[in-house]
Formats: sequence, C-alpha cells, structure tokens
Amino acid sequence: MSGGPVNIGLCGLGTVGQGVWKHLQGARAELGTRLGRPIVVKRIAVRSLTKARGVRVPASRLTTDALSVATDPQIPIVCELMGGTGIAREVTLAALRQGKAVISANKALICSHGAEIFAAARRHGGQFFFEASVAGGIPIIKALREGLVANRFPRIYGILNGTCNYILTQMEAQGAPYAQVLAEAKRLGYAEADEALDVEGWDTAHKAAILAWLAHGAWVNTRQMIVEGIDRLTPADLHNAATLGYRIKLLALITRDFDRNELSVRVHPTLLPVASVMAGVGGVFNAIAVSGDVVGTTLYTGRGAGQDATASAVISDIADAVSALSGGGAGRAAAAELPASPSRLRRSPPERIRCRYYLRLTVRDQPGVLARVASVMARHRVSIASVLQTPAERPGAASLVLTTHESDERSVGHALRVLGALKSVLERPLLLRIGDFAD
Ligand code: NAP
Ligand code: HSE
Repeated sequence: MSGGPVNIGLCGLGTVGQGVWKHLQGARAELGTRLGRPIVVKRIAVRSLTKARGVRVPASRLTTDALSVATDPQIPIVCELMGGTGIAREVTLAALRQGKAVISANKALICSHGAEIFAAARRHGGQFFFEASVAGGIPIIKALREGLVANRFPRIYGILNGTCNYILTQMEAQGAPYAQVLAEAKRLGYAEADEALDVEGWDTAHKAAILAWLAHGAWVNTRQMIVEGIDRLTPADLHNAATLGYRIKLLALITRDFDRNELSVRVHPTLLPVASVMAGVGGVFNAIAVSGDVVGTTLYTGRGAGQDATASAVISDIADAVSALSGGGAGRAAAAELPASPSRLRRSPPERIRCRYYLRLTVRDQPGVLARVASVMARHRVSIASVLQTPAERPGAASLVLTTHESDERSVGHALRVLGALKSVLERPLLLRIGDFAD
C-alpha cells in the first residue's frame, strides 16, 4: 500500500449501512491493496444507540448526530445511507459545502433535490457519487456516463424496483397473496421504509428521473410522469396475462424523440411477451435495456435491491472517492459537470403513446353488458382484439378482460372514463399497457 488510511463516515447502519460495514471489513485487505490505501470506518450515525444489529460495531464509533459525522474534519468521505429527504439532505449539503465526497443510495433525495446537490458540489469542490441509487448492484450509472458516452439514447427501459419484481414473481409462481409477499420483501430488506414508494411506482419514478437526467440532461418532475404501481394487480391479472402469452413487469420507460425534441418518462405495469429476455427477469433482479444510437441495444441485469447488491455499488463509489482523493481521478462519473440541459426539450404529450392495451372490467353478469362495453370501445375508435370472461369474486359479477389492437393513450383514456361510469361496471376498470418490445 502506498498511502495512509482514508477515514469514511457512515450516516445510517440499516440494511445498506450494515452491508457496507460487513463487506468493507470482509474485503479490507484486498480493497486496501487495490486502492493503495486502507479504508477506516471512523464514525457511524444511527437513530438508536441500543438497537440490536446484524453486525458487530464498536460502540465508541456510534453517534446519533449525523451532522457531526458529515462535518468531522477527519472524515473526507461521507456515505448517506439513512434515506428520506430531511436530515439526509442536510447531511449531504453540509459535507459537500466542506468540499467532501458524498456517496448516496438515496434516489428520493436525488430526484427531489438533485439540482441543488450538484450545484453545491460544483460550487464547493465536493463530489457526489450515486451508483447505488439506481438498480442496486448493476453499475448502470457508470455504464451510461462512461461506457456509453459516445451515444444518444432514444430509448431506455427496464425493471428498476426489486421489491415489485419480487412480489410479481412470487404472486405468479405461487399464487401467493400480495400482502404476504410484500411482508416477505420487507423482511428481506428490499422494500423502502415507506413501502408505498415501491408498490405505487414512485421509487421506480425516482430512478427513472435519475436515468433521464443522465441520458438527456433534464430533470423531469415525477408529478409530470405517468406513474402507476402494482398495487391494483391481482393474481388473476398475472394468470390472464400468462393465458395471453405475457408476463407483467413494472417498467420505467424513458423515450426521446430527437426530431421533435420530446422526452417521455413513465412508469407502469406492462405486459411483456413471455419469451422476451426482460419478461424472464424474476425475483429481486432488475434489468435495463439501453438503446444507444451508436452501440445499438445493450442489456444489464443483476440484483436490484438488498443488502449485498447495494453494498457492492456503495463500495464501488467509495473506491472512486478514495481514488479521487489520492489524485487518481474518479472517472467521468464523479468528474462530469451537470449534463447540459438540451434547449427547448419538451415533454412528450400522452397521445404520442401508441400501444396495445389490456383492460379488466368487473361487470354485472347480465345479457347486453358485453355489447354495451363493445359499443363504448367502438365509439372511441378503440378496436378490440380479444375477450376473456371469468367469474369475478363478487356474486352476480364477471371479470371481462379485453385486449385491444394498437391505439393511443387519449382514445383509450376517454373510453375508460365512459366505461367506468356505466351502471353495469361495478369497480374502477384496470388498464395495462402491452409492450411488444424486441430486446
Ligand atoms: P434502513 O434499513 O431503514 O436504515 C436506515 C438507517 O438510517 C438506520 O440505521 C437508521 O438508524 C438510520 N437513521 C435514520 N434516521 C436517522 C437520523 N435522523 N440520524 C441518524 N441515523 C438515522 O434503510 P436502508 O434500506 O438501509 O436504506 C437506506 C437508503 O438506501 C435509502 O435511501 C434507500 O432508499 C436506499 N437504498 C436501499 C436499498 C435496499 O435494498 N434496502 C437499495 C438501494 C438504495 P437506526 O438503525 O438506529 O434506526
Ligand atoms: N426498495 C428498492 C427496491 C430498493 O426494491 O428496488 C433498491 O433501490
């Protein structure tokens, strides 16, 4: 080893923080050799000093004062692994204002305060690393910023939430109830502290916003995206999709029309052909297909959540930060300025979305209902491709599953509103998009 020890501070010792501690201790000798300097975890901030943990940490290194870790003059590298957008933001900004390196897994924070964070880093000579914020252990940030730097990106899409993919996979494979599988995902350390972020699609939207920023240089507000989660899906939907030759995945889709200079970022459950590579990605795994104008399509897959995969990404950032500190540069990931925001980049209007649709209606099981539904679809020029009818759980009701030929979001949206208001339609209709992508 050629240099003295580098002190790091951990703010947070939960699922991710404990993984970072465990693997930094386990690989101490190898990392020290590779980086030319040993890494020492000098101080760790937690909420509770007495909580039982899965790793043994000297009590003398623990504190409840995260800001004191961030501003400790002996700590040049701070890992923010607490989550949320309150104290996490304060810690991040305080460390960057002192010119430190901050490593973050916090996609919610980056999504809501990214512009402020990057500006603080630039202004004060700090560095902000965030590989663990998107797709767990998959080095997608490095891939976009370094390996694919020659490209423009007409389409990036993929599975970005391990919890949702785990839930969908278990529900389909075992017919297990949603609530039971969600509880398992929480126990395994995949879910956010507020699991609604996962199942309602917001965590995927945060990650999509980060990828869109990296690829297109613009922060897209999640309130301007279509964001739909998996919380309304039932085992019957997964079964119906399988009958039709599809598997349902929660996807983020980031598409750029370079001729019109329009960007679309959306998150929703999508039916994918069962034979596609993306449909075969199960459990906690994530997958991202990146289409570049120079390289063509590249595909990345790996564990998208959980202690070890996320620790792998955080430690990769620690290595970059140590390297930068030692004068070796930190790759473009850290060195790059905020991507230039493309001038007059517009949000793509929803009617540009053209695809086939899956529509589930719970209807009164009476003569004439199917004809009424078909007439509403026809009036809105949405052409029906197939109809499946199965008994619904409530007595006297049936579940009607329609698929459509290619249509557009506006026409289908209008038809859906009219259908939802029919007396014979008993519950809010469920609309899913069919993604006939080639990957
Ligand atoms: P977690 O298990 O809930 O851990 C949070 C940690 O932060 C706990 O150790 C907690 O202390 C500490 N903490 C919270 N508020 C604090 C405060 N005010 N002062 C000091 N310490 C405080 O969360 P996690 O799953 O590790 O996630 C951490 C971050 O990583 C989040 O931003 C999450 O989105 C992101 N992330 C998670 C995963 C994953 O698979 N879990 C993957 C990628 C990214 P106590 O232990 O004393 O309560
Ligand atoms: N809750 C997130 C997920 C953690 O399940 O993907 C990884 O970002």
